[in-house]
Amino acid sequence: MEQLFDDLDDFGSFDDVVSGNVRDPFPELARLRREEPVQRIEGSSMPGEAGLPVFIVYRFEEAQQMLRDNETFSSAGVIAAFGPVLGDGVMLGMDEPVHGRLRALISNAFSQKSLARFQDELVARVGDELIDAFAANGKADLVKEFTFTYPSRIIAGLLGLPEEDYPQFQRWSISLLSWIVNPERGLAASAALVEYYRPILEARRAEPRDDLISLLAAAEIDGSKLADEEIFSFLRLLLPAGVETTYRSLGNLLFALLSDPAQLDAVRNDRSLLPQAIEEGVRWNPPLLTITRVATRDTELGGVPIPAGASVMPMLGAANRQEDRWPDPDRFDIFREPRSSLGWGYGVHVCLGMHLARLEMRTAVNLLLDRLPNLRMDPDGDDPHIRGQIFRSPTSLPVLFDPR
Ligand code: HEM
Repeated sequence: MEQLFDDLDDFGSFDDVVSGNVRDPFPELARLRREEPVQRIEGSSMPGEAGLPVFIVYRFEEAQQMLRDNETFSSAGVIAAFGPVLGDGVMLGMDEPVHGRLRALISNAFSQKSLARFQDELVARVGDELIDAFAANGKADLVKEFTFTYPSRIIAGLLGLPEEDYPQFQRWSISLLSWIVNPERGLAASAALVEYYRPILEARRAEPRDDLISLLAAAEIDGSKLADEEIFSFLRLLLPAGVETTYRSLGNLLFALLSDPAQLDAVRNDRSLLPQAIEEGVRWNPPLLTITRVATRDTELGGVPIPAGASVMPMLGAANRQEDRWPDPDRFDIFREPRSSLGWGYGVHVCLGMHLARLEMRTAVNLLLDRLPNLRMDPDGDDPHIRGQIFRSPTSLPVLFDPR
């Protein structure tokens, strides 16, 4: 456990470097959305071709338009940025038709139907075990003691990894996630993960079990199967795509509810409100404020010319607070009229894991409310707040409850 907490602090320093201590980037994003909806920034060192400007897209309509046009706006920049740690076969950075083939082979495993059977035997079990460790204390920091570990244990369980490997798996996850600040350690973790997965993949090929690695090994469409390297890329992608996002989103949702006792009570008393609370959380503070594309040809967006090779970044966090789509957009309001946001992305790369993420968040909030009576923010806590300019999540979630 000691080791895990060392690594958690380490992950905090990753946050410090990547996100800085930015509490509220939204007023500035709103100003840019109004004044420079497609913003041109000269001479940035972002992915894309060196020396070309970078474009940031703030309005919902243009962001959606570019994500729909995946021929003009390629995802290949992701490979330039993350290929070394995730492998060149990573679907997030592929374009059509290669991406479509990969996605079709993998998506079955992530359908709502395939996931339903994991709800009790895995997702709720992991949640219960984590709560067991602090339910008698009457207080907890839900970031340290719950949200941070929960999704990585669930992914490990979905993959069918042996439980004794979980602590090691979590350390590799953190090293991989923080590779931008510590490339050497990230690359080492990436290589170690492939060596770790290799014999497991072989064993599941020989003797399939009821887990995700067996499903990936067996997936087949028209005689085409996933190559080992494609499987290893996908398994590594699951860490940033499936662990980090869910950890952050669940934290944001809990922060929002705990900061607003009336809405927390509404959910506590009527759990059918949870799905809309989850979508509102992902709109209001998506875990990832921006994603990235590269223009494959000279084009234009919202009247602004964009040269081939330039990076173009839809600012999901700005699009999600556009006042003509969501009145009083800065307010977290589970009762607002539902409208789809860009928090899950849009187009061919739209989040593959959204059903899993929703299941995880729903189960977590249900369990926390069921098992921790009178759950509330600790008024003497250490000034918890959501922070970050790229990734967003709360620094801590100090809570009180009636001990059991
Ligand atoms: C609340 C939690 C989550 C949020 C907000 C989220 C958000 C996103 C976004 C914005 C994208 C699009 C990226 C792009 O277009 O460049 C994406 C893609 C993806 N997500 Fe999620 N995600 C979440 C949870 C998960 C989980 C739990 C998994 C899997 C276990 C997952 C797996 C993926 C994968 C594999 C892709 C790439 C899909 C593709 O390239 O076709 N995500 N996600």
